Amino acid sequence: MCGIIGYIGSKEAVPILLDGLKKLEYRGYDSAGIAVLKDNKIKIVKCKGKVAKLENLLEKDAPKGNIGLGHTRWATHGKPNDINAHPHNGCNSEIVVVHNGIIENYMSLRERLILEGHNFISETDTEVLPHLIESNYHNDFTLAVKESLKEIEGSYAIGVISTRDPGKIVASRCGSPLIIGIGEGEMFLASDIPALLIYTNRVIFLEEREIATITKDGVEIINSKGKILHKKVINIDWGEEMIEKSGYKHFMLKEIFQETMVIRNNLEGRINLSTKTLQPENLPLPLDRIKEIERISILACGSSYYTALAGKYIFEELTGIPVEVDYSSEFRYRKILLGKKDLAILISQSGETADTLAALRACRKAGSYILALTNVRGSAISREADSVMYIKAGPEIGVATTKAFVSQLMCLYILSLYFAQVRKTLDLSEINKIISELIKIPQMVEIILLKEPEIIKLSEEFHKYHNFLYLGRGINYPIALEGALKLKEISYIHAEGYAAGEMKHGPIALLDKTFPVVVIVPQDKVYTKVINNIKEVKARDTLVLAIATEGDKEIINIADKVIYIPKTLDILYPILSVIPLQLFAYHIADRLGCDVDKPRNLAKSVTVE
Ligand code: G6P
Repeated sequence: MCGIIGYIGSKEAVPILLDGLKKLEYRGYDSAGIAVLKDNKIKIVKCKGKVAKLENLLEKDAPKGNIGLGHTRWATHGKPNDINAHPHNGCNSEIVVVHNGIIENYMSLRERLILEGHNFISETDTEVLPHLIESNYHNDFTLAVKESLKEIEGSYAIGVISTRDPGKIVASRCGSPLIIGIGEGEMFLASDIPALLIYTNRVIFLEEREIATITKDGVEIINSKGKILHKKVINIDWGEEMIEKSGYKHFMLKEIFQETMVIRNNLEGRINLSTKTLQPENLPLPLDRIKEIERISILACGSSYYTALAGKYIFEELTGIPVEVDYSSEFRYRKILLGKKDLAILISQSGETADTLAALRACRKAGSYILALTNVRGSAISREADSVMYIKAGPEIGVATTKAFVSQLMCLYILSLYFAQVRKTLDLSEINKIISELIKIPQMVEIILLKEPEIIKLSEEFHKYHNFLYLGRGINYPIALEGALKLKEISYIHAEGYAAGEMKHGPIALLDKTFPVVVIVPQDKVYTKVINNIKEVKARDTLVLAIATEGDKEIINIADKVIYIPKTLDILYPILSVIPLQLFAYHIADRLGCDVDKPRNLAKSVTVE
């Protein structure tokens, strides 16, 4: 949802801005631009297209200067073109703004500013900002930004530079993330941590409506009332190598291959591997809270919603607590029926998804206890929740989530085992049995990853089809949804996920030999039911790829192709069955020449409604 980068120091700004934009490109890649301030002039270079195109333009003629802003756009208002690309200018090229978010009242502000004589050239909501700041500018840059933001409705993270006060970047946020990086004699501004890691790991997270005035030697932060704040500097423990491709063709592939490691990370400190018991001291939520929960509501968007759906099966099975699952975007506008005895779990890799943040705030109003599952320390959702369980996936750069998905699942398993222990819905031997199996999952994942050559071959055969149906039943139904989403979002092939038992209520009408079906059919309690569903599919001449349990002798006589996964407990199959589906989608998309890490029209962090 747009990425912002800013630099102020004594180095040339352009290479730093470009490097930052490349790291932020997962947030949007419709257009890109930079602005550099030198000798009381601001030079802007921007274009439609990806950062690589901007880099080409800059190779010929890069503006010199030590202060600058950069932006990579995910278009909301105004189509992607050179004019709508950021940064945006006021009338006299004296005030330049980059913005992430949506200014909801931009039409009325624009009309007023036009009447005041301001001249607009783009179709964006953002362009009102430099004009507004221009009109509020008397002799204090920060004050002009502060007064202008009072008039803004909507969400924003902004960086502003001005020739009227050239040694500063003024920045603020409301609803979209913004981080200040602290260097030696230089300072940075960014939408996300990976853009800064190469320069510094000391950061300050800006909170809602705080305004930062950044010079090369430091930063002064005030709240919306003008009070000076003394904010904590946080040391980030992510290494620079964690945001490189490390020899993999794409981040997505690297991230799939990191799944063994992230599953181990999630076990560490939460489960004692020798005694095979939980370590409650490292798990979230006060005991009293866990005991009094009457209902759980899990809220999330995108793939995180599918982990939430799997969470329903896991929690209900292990703890007996009724669970409701909702898209955050739907939940937030419905009548909220949660209360004080309900636990709200918000799942968000980025911790910044606007709808999930709004859902969190609705749960807060309803008085429910709020637990966040997120990957990003300091993210808005982590800051507003009562408790946080970090999913320990490390930075995820590929727009289509993979390792964060399995990390979220791991957290849900551990959390529900913990609840089962506290509420005594399972006895210790049952908990111990699941834990013993859970700690074998990393080795099982390694076995699945070794099957990559087999999956590459399958991608050769399957990449020519234009429609796919994914089926799963019980706890593997959410994985069918995720498998279909992975394929469609990165390869642009139409794919639908369906509950296997529902297939005969509609989708079966679509099936013929041009419409392959991918079925998740482990040897669990609904195995024979799914086998029957496969037979129904085969009767329509349809090609079937099955994800089945190693040692299943029957499946190869029914399905056309099989990818085997190791045998485990019924409840744990999702964390294994999703991995071949991620690899399958990846290799089809790669074979089709798609930009796997940056699929068209998508963004990793959706900070607008
Ligand atoms: C985007 C991403 C998805 C992600 C979803 C929710 O659509 O492309 O991979 O699942 O947002 O994001 P969150 O950060 O809240 O998990």
